[in-house]
Amino acid sequence: MRCKKTVVIGVTGGVAVYKALDIVSRLKKKDIDVHVIMTKAAQEFASELSFRSLSLNPVTTDMFDRPNSFDVEHIALAKRADVLLIAPATANIIGKISNGIADDMLSTTVMATKAPVVIAPAMNTAMYENPIVQRNIENLKSYGYHFIEPLSGRLACGDVGRGKMESPEVIVEYVEMLLHSNKDLKGKNILITAGPTREDIDPVRFISNKSSGKMGYAIARAARDRGANVTLITGPTSLSPIKFIDVVNVYSSEDMYKAVMDNLESADIVIKAAAVSDYSPLDYSSIKIKKSEDSMTLPLRKNKDILLEVGSIKGSRIIVGFAAETNNVLDNAKLKLSKKNLDMIVANDVLDKGSGFDVDTNKISIITNDDIISYDILTKDEAANNILDKILEIKR
Ligand code: PMT
Repeated sequence: MRCKKTVVIGVTGGVAVYKALDIVSRLKKKDIDVHVIMTKAAQEFASELSFRSLSLNPVTTDMFDRPNSFDVEHIALAKRADVLLIAPATANIIGKISNGIADDMLSTTVMATKAPVVIAPAMNTAMYENPIVQRNIENLKSYGYHFIEPLSGRLACGDVGRGKMESPEVIVEYVEMLLHSNKDLKGKNILITAGPTREDIDPVRFISNKSSGKMGYAIARAARDRGANVTLITGPTSLSPIKFIDVVNVYSSEDMYKAVMDNLESADIVIKAAAVSDYSPLDYSSIKIKKSEDSMTLPLRKNKDILLEVGSIKGSRIIVGFAAETNNVLDNAKLKLSKKNLDMIVANDVLDKGSGFDVDTNKISIITNDDIISYDILTKDEAANNILDKILEIKR
C-alpha cells in the first residue's frame, strides 16, 4: 500500500522558477515524494540538475524521454500525483490547459490526471490583467482548478503591480491542505473565535488578557485542513494570518459580538475559544488620564456575554464553548455548559504548566451532556483535532 503522498510539480518558464526550487525543498522536508516536470522554457531559467538534486527523483523534461518503467510516463505521473502543482505558471500554460491543448509533457500530464491541480501564476501585470488570461483563469476555476492568486509588488520586468508568484511557504501550505486525507468536515460552515479583546480606557491604555490566539487559530487550521469552510473572528494577536479561510479582525468585545452575530446565520458549528473581556470601562477618556491621587477607581460595566446569547438562539447549530478556569475546573465548566445552553465545553486549567494562555500546548477536558474526557498534555494542534473529532460525534 502506498502511504507517502506524491506531488507532481510542473515548472514553466519565468524568473520565479527559483521559488519552485524552494517549494520542492520544503515539500521534501515534509516527507512528500516530489516529481518535477520542466517545460522547455523553464530549463532556460534553472537546470534540470538542481530540481533532480532537491527532489531526489528523475526530472521529466521532454515528451520523448525514455520512460524508466513500462508505464507511459505522462500517464504514470498523472496517476501517481495526489496533487499536481504548476508553479510558476505562465499565461501560456494557463491558456493551453483552458483550451484542452496537450502538446508537451506538462500539459499532457495535466489533461490525464484526476488529482487536484493547483496553479500559481507568475507573469507581468499587463499579461495577468489581460482579459483573455482572466477568461482562461475563470474558465479553469469553473472546472475546479485551484488558483493561488499572485501578489502585487515589483516584478522582474521592473513594473509594479499584480503578477508576483505567492511565497513558497504559502503555496506549500495550500498543497498540504489538499493532501490532508481526512475531509470529514467538508461542506460544514464553522465559525471560530480566537484571541483576546481590548477595552480602551483612554488613547494609550486598555483592559485585556493573556490570550495569544494560538488555541483558536489551531482549531481554525485543523478545521480548514479537514475540509470545512472556516470563518475566524480574531481579536488582536501577533500570529501570522491563516491563509485560505475568511478572517474577520476585531478589537473590542463589542466588535466581536457584532462580528459573531453578522456571521452566525450560515454557521453549522460555532466554537468560541476567544477570551472575551467580561468588563469594559464605563467611560472612555478621549485624552490620556493624568496621574494624580495615590489610588484610583475605574468604574466598569459588564459586556454582553456573546456565547450566552448564541446559545439562546442556537437552532440546529452545534455550539462549543471554552472555560478558562483556575479552580474547580470541571464543576465550573459544567455550570457554563448548562447555563449557556452549549453542546460541548472545553475546560482548561490556565494555572497548569503548559496549559492555557500563550503556550503551544494545552491540557483539556472535553465535557458534553453525556460524558467527560480528560486528556494528558497535547499540542494545541492535537487538542484542536480531538475537539473536532468529538464535535463530529454529536448527534443532531
Ligand atoms: O489564546 P491562547 O493563548 O492559545 O489561550 C487559549 C485560551 C486559554 C484563551 C483558551 O483555551 C480558552 O480557554 N478560551 C476561553 C477563555 C474564556 O474567556 O473563558 P471564560 O471561562 O471566561 O468564558 C467562557 C466562554 O464564554 C468562552 O467560550 C468565551 O469565549 C465565552 N465568552 C465569555 C465572555 C463574554 N463576554 N462572551 C463570551 O462569549
